[in-house]
Amino acid sequence: MHYATFNRGGTREELFTSREAIEAVKNGQPMPSGTVITMEDYRNDELYRYVVMERRAGWGTRHSPELRTGEWEFQWFNPDRTAKTDESFDRCRSCHTSQASQDFVFTVDQMRRAK
Ligand code: HEC
Repeated sequence: MHYATFNRGGTREELFTSREAIEAVKNGQPMPSGTVITMEDYRNDELYRYVVMERRAGWGTRHSPELRTGEWEFQWFNPDRTAKTDESFDRCRSCHTSQASQDFVFTVDQMRRAK
C-alpha cells in the first residue's frame, strides 16, 4: 500500500509497503520477514529509480557490524526495473544505520499514521 509522499523541489518520492508491515509497526512489532519497502524516486515527474529495502530472516550477516542494517538488504532498480549493478550499497546501509533504534527505517511515523 502507498503510505507516504515527499516533495522536495524537483524531487518527488512515493513510498509503498505491505499492509502486514504497516500493521506490525502500528502494533509495535518488528516488520515480518519478507517485507519489502519500495520508494519511487521521480525527478521533474519522470521516474528516475526505485530504491528498495527487503528484510528476510537470516539476511545481513555478510556485512561488517558497522554497515549491517539488521536483516535488511538494499537495492536500486532502474526505471526499466533492471537492478543497478555498479553499486555496493554500503552507502545506503551506512546512512540507514542511523535509524537502528527504529528498525533502520526512516519513515516509521508515516507508517504509524497510514490508514
Ligand atoms: C544520506 C542518507 C541516505 C542514503 C545514502 C540512503 N538513504 Fe534511503 N532514506 C533516507 C531518508 C532520509 C529516507 C526517508 C525519506 C526521505 O526523507 O526522503 C529514506 C528512505 C528510504 C526508503 C523507504 C523506507 C525508509 O527507510 O523510510 C528506502 C526503501 C530507502 N531509503 C532505500 C535506500 C537505498 C536502496 C539506498 C541506496 C541506493 C538509500 N536508501 C540510501 C536516507 C538515505
